[in-house]
Amino acid sequence: MEYKNLKVQIEDGIAIVTVCRPEALNALNSNFFREMDDLIARISDDDSVRIMILTGEGKAFVAGADIAEMADMTPEQGKSFSKMGQATFRGFFTMKIPVIAAINGYALGGGLELTLGCDIRIASNKAKFGQPEVNLGMIPGYGGTQRLPRLIGLGNALYLLMTAEVIGAEEALRMGLVQKVVEHEQLMEETLKMARTILSKGPEAIRKVKYVTRNGIQADFMEGCELESEYFSSQFKAEGEEGMKAFLEKRKANW
Ligand code: CAA
Repeated sequence: MEYKNLKVQIEDGIAIVTVCRPEALNALNSNFFREMDDLIARISDDDSVRIMILTGEGKAFVAGADIAEMADMTPEQGKSFSKMGQATFRGFFTMKIPVIAAINGYALGGGLELTLGCDIRIASNKAKFGQPEVNLGMIPGYGGTQRLPRLIGLGNALYLLMTAEVIGAEEALRMGLVQKVVEHEQLMEETLKMARTILSKGPEAIRKVKYVTRNGIQADFMEGCELESEYFSSQFKAEGEEGMKAFLEKRKANW
């Protein structure tokens, strides 16, 4: 499939995916979702890709769902549009590899929801965040009402969802909405540094951390702990054996 809304660059196990529709501040339309679904499937089948970075072209990360496409939708079409976005963002969850959002500018509405679907968020000091749907008489449709309170707590989430306030990167960091803020010019360098740090760890351990943490938090606490024990124990006589030996022998692990 040829992509019109995405640029993909794969190097040294890292896929850098740029949402590329700058004339509409990278607003998400149906084509975007079709392309992203295709890309997620391709990357999931490619063992050489071990981490994915998502960013946006130009001054926005993503300024939301495409309002022009949504404006004339019927409730049924709106529901499909919501399900389409939810399914794609769930794709980041089901991918075995880590997905990092490198937020270069506006992350509004569906754009903020896109970052919430990722595993880790790193922001430029110029990035701006908000859930402005209520300004349009709408509510989020790509999982925002569910993922935002799970990430930043109910009070912060309802504050952003009800006021539609657009906040800066430092405020987003304070709320736990992003994990790190860096100088705008350093965003990709710092994100790549984070990606390489993750790549230096036990590859299977990284995949299992993602699986257990993300599935466990959705499950009952004791079920989550059961899942943890199961995956913890599966690392013995496997990658963990080499990692622990390497520590005791004061050398780098040979994964
Ligand atoms: N959908 C469609 N087009 C969009 C867009 C969007 N979400 N955001 C920006 N654009 C378009 C603008 O219409 C404009 O197009 P034209 O040049 O053809 O007029 C172009 O991108 C540039 O935008 P602006 O001129 O508005 O740029 P600005 O710098 O003055 O303002 C902004 C930037 C504050 C981000 C402003 O564009 C804005 O408020 N955008 C909408 C943000 C928003 O409401 N997002 C939520 C969408 S609803 C949603 O996401 C629902 C969901 O969860 C499923």
